Amino acid sequence: MTDFIPVNEPLLNGNEKKYLLECIETGWISSEGPFIAEFERRFAARMGRKYGVAVCNGTAAIDATIEALGIGPGDEVIMPAFTIISCIAQIVRNGAKPVLVDSDPFTWNMDIAQIEAKVNSRTKAIMIVHIFGLPVDADPVLEIAERHGLFVIEDAAEMHGQTYKGRPCGSIGDVSTFSFYPNKNITTGEGGMILTDDDELAETLRSLRNLCFKPENRFVHDRLGWNLRMTNMQAAIGLAQLERLDEFVDRKRKMGSLYDYLLKNSPGFQRPLLRTEYSENIYWVYGILVDEALKLSGKEVRMKLAKAGVGTRPFFYPMHQQPVLRKLGLFEGESYPVAERLYQQGLYLPSGLGLSEHQIERSAKSVVRLFEDKSVSF
Ligand SMILES: Cc1ncc(COP(=O)(O)O)c(C=O)c1O
Repeated sequence: MTDFIPVNEPLLNGNEKKYLLECIETGWISSEGPFIAEFERRFAARMGRKYGVAVCNGTAAIDATIEALGIGPGDEVIMPAFTIISCIAQIVRNGAKPVLVDSDPFTWNMDIAQIEAKVNSRTKAIMIVHIFGLPVDADPVLEIAERHGLFVIEDAAEMHGQTYKGRPCGSIGDVSTFSFYPNKNITTGEGGMILTDDDELAETLRSLRNLCFKPENRFVHDRLGWNLRMTNMQAAIGLAQLERLDEFVDRKRKMGSLYDYLLKNSPGFQRPLLRTEYSENIYWVYGILVDEALKLSGKEVRMKLAKAGVGTRPFFYPMHQQPVLRKLGLFEGESYPVAERLYQQGLYLPSGLGLSEHQIERSAKSVVRLFEDKSVSF
């Protein structure tokens, strides 16, 4: 097998090394270092928000958000069935009830038409999660939230640099969260950010991130927080990455267009939408959905592509089917057919910023070959 094409590879050839060296030379390696405040300030400004709270990963960003909003027993949060476990974990841990909606079969985002019917007197928040490259159609969700007095939590983990009707993703919810895992459009190795315009909420989030230490009496606590702090070294990398966000977005769009061009005449699978009325695809990842008529699952296609040296990832496993949640008695008898199909038939192709045009071409050619002759074993 010749050179395996990894599914993700970050690009770290800007000021990352220089800023990291600065951390080492000055001795500022903890969360107290100056890159943290700078990264928070610049990231928030880029996304059009007042406050940024840097944390250790995107999951922690959501955990802290749920806690800061006081979501707990008796509360319900409406959210997509098709997403990562990070979105639901703290809702469940806090004793609140996640209420799921199915996905749109084309954008793969939550079907916003299903939200209103799920709102009741216990609903406290709606969580929107922008999936794979296209944002959720957020205005109707904001309107529902406004009418019913609900928080909107915006998980923009996959959406750095994307816009919704010209507004930056991450500027839409009362609170928004980001991940900086290496497969994201901006990476810090591990890392996350919470954005808000609300002074009090920002203060609560900072406190929860830092064990709820009190400035006046450090080791006396009124509330249980976590240590979710990001290090100065991570923020140094993040700042260097942020400097190149426009370039990265451009690169992602070019990679997506190249896949589209190479795959457009190939039958047997659904490609991502190029655009919607409110956004151009940013192709955080390039996903495909295999036609059931081929009697081939996403997993089988992934195995064949692996043999051809092409790295892939499965789509999310829906929340209502998660064993850990079913064991807790959640989602009994519930079904979300689009989310189930996305998991069964979906996969995404190598999409990392560090991949070359040649690697994308090789990856696309393997897909074309496979679907031309699905018996191909490579
Ligand atoms: C939509 C979404 N939310 C949250 C996360 C969690 O981020 P992290 O891996 O940094 O904890 C991810 C990560 O991959 C994600 O895709």
